[in-house]
Amino acid sequence: MVTLGIETSCDETAIGIIENDKILANIVSSQIAHSKFGGVVPELAARNHIKIIMPLTKVALDVAAKDLKDIDLISVTRGPGLIGALLVGLSFSKSLAIALNKPFIGVNHLEGHIYALRLNRQTPQYPYLVLLVSGGHTELVLVKKEFVYHTLGKTTDDACGEAFDKVAKLMGLPYPGGPYIEKEAKNGRLGTVKFPVPKPKKFDFSYAGLKTAVLYYTRDNPDYNRDDVAVNFQESALEHLVQVVKRALESKKIRHLGIVGGVSANMKLREKFNRLAKLMNVKLYIPDVQHCTDNGVMIALAGAQRFKKSGPSDLTIDAVAREGLEQIASLHS
Ligand code: KG4
Ligand code: ZN
Repeated sequence: MVTLGIETSCDETAIGIIENDKILANIVSSQIAHSKFGGVVPELAARNHIKIIMPLTKVALDVAAKDLKDIDLISVTRGPGLIGALLVGLSFSKSLAIALNKPFIGVNHLEGHIYALRLNRQTPQYPYLVLLVSGGHTELVLVKKEFVYHTLGKTTDDACGEAFDKVAKLMGLPYPGGPYIEKEAKNGRLGTVKFPVPKPKKFDFSYAGLKTAVLYYTRDNPDYNRDDVAVNFQESALEHLVQVVKRALESKKIRHLGIVGGVSANMKLREKFNRLAKLMNVKLYIPDVQHCTDNGVMIALAGAQRFKKSGPSDLTIDAVAREGLEQIASLHS
């Protein structure tokens, strides 16, 4: 079965094509238009998706050496995300489905990220824990079995990626800030600036305090060293993730851990969680870097799995700005 996956929930226009479990094309266009605003401008995102979605689909088909008539299923992100941006992908997918007379399925973006774990040679066994760390979400989820999710905790304020983006912005680095902070941090001296590791309750996360600590430090020390701030912020931000996940692993006695979403592209994160996994005797799964950030392949894969279980979506489905994993589980299982 050949599945076309379409992702337009934020500022990446992404098209993936898979044939069963094999990736045939993974084309991602990141909109640089937002860089000068220091964050995503929703209307600009939607307009840029409209401009590029057709040519990008053509490129993906060429790379996959497939024709539109070879597509068996069209899978698209229906939420959560920016409504205007989502509607571009959703309307495009519906039109394609009608024109080609092919089934169509709407996918939850978070479930898409979790399915990126399936792109590795080894995949986690149920039940497993997933840390989802992106620009819009920071959640710790127990995946009990296929499509059955229990969210143990989430951020009470900013998402982890959002904190990276905001700290980058206040130091004059471009958007999205995560990769720039990681780069600056390589030359920074750990321990030169003390930023607190957040300590919220149970399995929840919080980044507002850490972000404010960086804001105050940079304001009070105008000659601050950017590399030092970057490395010490990154250390506290990632250590927070490690501490919460460690607590959950101890409490739930789970042996398989997946980490997904844009921030999992960070090499220091991988280093830290590798150490934790060894310490806790847990098997760790993190997708390849190109599958951590938003892409169409993960949407194709999640859609194909859902389609096998419960068939296509109705063509009347709407885009949704918010949709938790538990909500979709109850719809389909
Ligand atoms: O999953 P994603 O592509 O989009 C959302 O669903 O939000 O994640 C984007 C987020 C951004 O906040 C970006 O700064 C962060 O992931 N990110 C990183 C790195 N690469 C991307 N954060 C830290 N280190 C990185 N190397
Ligand atoms: Zn994402």
